[in-house]
Amino acid sequence: MIGGLHKQFLLLLLWGSLVVAVKDYLFKTCETAGFCHRNKYFAESVKNQGHNFIPKYSISQSSISIDEVLNSKVIHGNIIKFIPSGNHITLPFEISLLDGNNLRFKVDEKDRTSIDTTKLNINTHRYNETSDWAFVSAELPYLANDKFTIDLKNDVLIITYGDAKQYRAIVDFWPIKLTIYHKDKIQIIANDKNLFNFEHWRLQDENSHHLTEEETDYDMFEDHFKDSKEDSIPLGPESIGLDFTFKNFQHLYGIPEHADSMNLKDTTESSMPYRLFNVDIFEYETDSRLPMYGAIPFILASKPEISVGLFWINSADTFINVDKTTNQKDSSTHWISENGIVDFIITIDKTPADINRNYGLITGYTQLPPLFSLGYHQCRWNYNDEKDVLEVNSLMDEYQIPYDTIWLDIEYTDQKKYFTWHKEKFPNPERMLDELDHTGRNLVIIIDPHIKTGYYLSDELTKKKSCINDASNNSYHGHCWPGESVWIDTLNPTAQEIWDAQFTWNNYFLGGQSSNIFIWNDMNEPSVFNGPETSAPKDDIHFGGWEHRSVHNIYGMTYHEATYNSLAKRNEGHTTRERPFVLTRSYYAGSQRTAAMWTGDNMCKWEYLQISIPMVLTSNIVGMPFSGADVGGFFGDPSTELLTRWYQTGIWYPFFRAHAHIDSRRREPWLAGEPYTSIIRDAVRLRYSILSVIYTAFYESSQTGIPVMKPIFYESLSNIESYSIEDQFFVGNSGILVKPVTEEDAKEIKVYLPDNEVYYDYTDRSLSKINAYSSDKPGYLTKSVTLEDIPVFIKGGSIISLKDRYRRSSRLMFKDPYTLIIALNKDGEANGSLYVDDGESFDYEKHEEYAYIKFNYSNGKISADVNEVKDRFKDSISDVKIEKIIILNESTTGTVESIIIHNPKLSISQSWTGKIEFVVEHDEL
Ligand code: GLC
Repeated sequence: MIGGLHKQFLLLLLWGSLVVAVKDYLFKTCETAGFCHRNKYFAESVKNQGHNFIPKYSISQSSISIDEVLNSKVIHGNIIKFIPSGNHITLPFEISLLDGNNLRFKVDEKDRTSIDTTKLNINTHRYNETSDWAFVSAELPYLANDKFTIDLKNDVLIITYGDAKQYRAIVDFWPIKLTIYHKDKIQIIANDKNLFNFEHWRLQDENSHHLTEEETDYDMFEDHFKDSKEDSIPLGPESIGLDFTFKNFQHLYGIPEHADSMNLKDTTESSMPYRLFNVDIFEYETDSRLPMYGAIPFILASKPEISVGLFWINSADTFINVDKTTNQKDSSTHWISENGIVDFIITIDKTPADINRNYGLITGYTQLPPLFSLGYHQCRWNYNDEKDVLEVNSLMDEYQIPYDTIWLDIEYTDQKKYFTWHKEKFPNPERMLDELDHTGRNLVIIIDPHIKTGYYLSDELTKKKSCINDASNNSYHGHCWPGESVWIDTLNPTAQEIWDAQFTWNNYFLGGQSSNIFIWNDMNEPSVFNGPETSAPKDDIHFGGWEHRSVHNIYGMTYHEATYNSLAKRNEGHTTRERPFVLTRSYYAGSQRTAAMWTGDNMCKWEYLQISIPMVLTSNIVGMPFSGADVGGFFGDPSTELLTRWYQTGIWYPFFRAHAHIDSRRREPWLAGEPYTSIIRDAVRLRYSILSVIYTAFYESSQTGIPVMKPIFYESLSNIESYSIEDQFFVGNSGILVKPVTEEDAKEIKVYLPDNEVYYDYTDRSLSKINAYSSDKPGYLTKSVTLEDIPVFIKGGSIISLKDRYRRSSRLMFKDPYTLIIALNKDGEANGSLYVDDGESFDYEKHEEYAYIKFNYSNGKISADVNEVKDRFKDSISDVKIEKIIILNESTTGTVESIIIHNPKLSISQSWTGKIEFVVEHDEL
């Protein structure tokens, strides 16, 4: 593709200055993607044949064996595919049961060894290693033998599993179906509509003998899409398709990344199914199923009594059709992937939170981020030089805006050669880092996976064969920010070694011994300006001989994991800032273990502010809570009102960063002018005052998978109306409910209170103005708002821990005292939790140096239940006290009675209990 300076490339080169809408024509649709086209044809043909359709796949009963693994059992057998020549193809399958009610089904293809490999540079097996990257551990948590039974009959296999054997999976042999029941009610059926399609290996000249009557040979051996015509498709058609019906479910969520609603839409009438194919999509549009930077092929289906999770473990280009209309009661989904194996996990459990926990047992939970990374990040493309950085740093103090991190985009480098500094602009990075460190602040710098040709790093990668290769097995060359580049192949262990060497303490690039420097990984879809669909050609080759086609959607994760690993190795045993922080644009299931993500290049428009909430909520639902959107909008110049409203929303994103395009005007908070600057400052300070709440939410998420920015319906499962609320959310399990104002010139908003609990309006944070709302049923509350207002409510029954003093950064808040807000529910009770550790090392994990406190209030007594806090950590927090307790109670007349207890001198490092009999005063919060 190099040298082909066609229209697309020119457009992309002008990336910075063009203001044009997303170029849909750059991206394949289901019609123009051969494999999707064929599966759609297959689906229509099956449908049209109706009852006359004869399924071509069957499970051979005699092939089934039940084999011992560890303390469990795995079922093996063969699916037989009948083809017109009278022959059949053998597709071995495997069914296993894993902890967390997870049932795994895998189907591979036998006999691909017959492929003539002499002319091919590639591994000809179907790619089956996606799970190796996605799963948290190579040791699968198999379900113990005594937790399930297998019953093999003539035409069916029955597996009963789960506590009290409440789940039953029935595998029918012909037509093949997997039906899973919970207590005699069907929850999900795989292959309900007979769309199972497995394109087996065949030669082009014998293809006609292999095509079943449901198949078309459209683009099986060539690609007509204009920018992919050079794809050699060396293995011919390899696609897989399968449908899943969620029985009696109307609410499905997940499969990011799309700039679209949280509740998945019906795509039957649309030419645009959801597509998972990591791409650098220029000026993406909202309300769109076009692919974006990341992919998590996980769907959550929820209803009051039960929830289902489906994880489609495949890293190739994938389309998903959602059908909620054919049968109004059910939702059915059709999954189509270009290649790889069929591999999926289904988990069924009571609540969505249970599904998050079960899915996390497989892919891991979110990292516990270093505390600083939950503070305010100040970024733009670009802070020009050291002087600029330090000026912004001190202006934050002048305007008394707390912040933790300033960021450097690609211009800090010498000609976009990563691991170098632009010598004139940044003559002394160590000095700059030291200056930031004085106030506990950090620097994040960008390191992308495209490595400019002609300098030591690309030379070394090429020499050690650690680049992505082209179809002829030479280093692939393409274009990105630096011009001609090669791409590090982070599937290759040698690439990890080379990467590690770039991050060592004695590499001056990282500012000598400075520990306050962290990394931003961008463009890792990978973005290739002159590549097909702005990415690498699908017939490029990775370590292991795997085609890029097979690993496309995990490449970004392998890259940010390599960075995380390198930083972790560098920091090991270092006393400060031991936990790495990496931001990634591209991601996959499992990315939550090592990175934060953001939603890429949005625009300074109200609809992008609005869509950011469902996008971040979706990310939280699929186990990737550490997520956010560029505050202010990336492209363009926001009005001061939009900027202000964006800050007021952004402070609730788990990852909170302001960012802007190189051509946009400067927009640091003080430039907005009054009253905007003060309103933004107050919003940022609100974020800092609840930092402990957010940190606690992350801790809980890192243990159980619970979202940090949590959809409303997680707390009101019996109320089906709440399943569609996606412009408001809870902060973890804290009971803080937020509905940011995201409409221009808003004078009032409607807040949905999802249950009959009492809600204390915390929007105006002075005690005398707190109102309480409660009703005997869920409903909307209309509330007038001014520009100052961020509608925040505290749900009755919650205990919130705040730190209210202004400090310049989170690090400087460590010893600050807490204020507890006890918001009583209708029964006069409340609960809450607080997690505290040093915020930067792994001692919480290695030496259990943390305090996890459960507060409770009942019968006029407040108590704190704390784990046994290790001495060393106890010493470090011994003088951290609770300085104030505020009790909110809705009186019988509907007003709020507040009690303030000053200086109770309670410690947070040991358990205590006591009656509230301290000095009581009325006061402002
Ligand atoms: C990409 C990123 C953006 C960054 C720019 C320059 O567009 O999404 O955040 O500023 O590249 O590195």
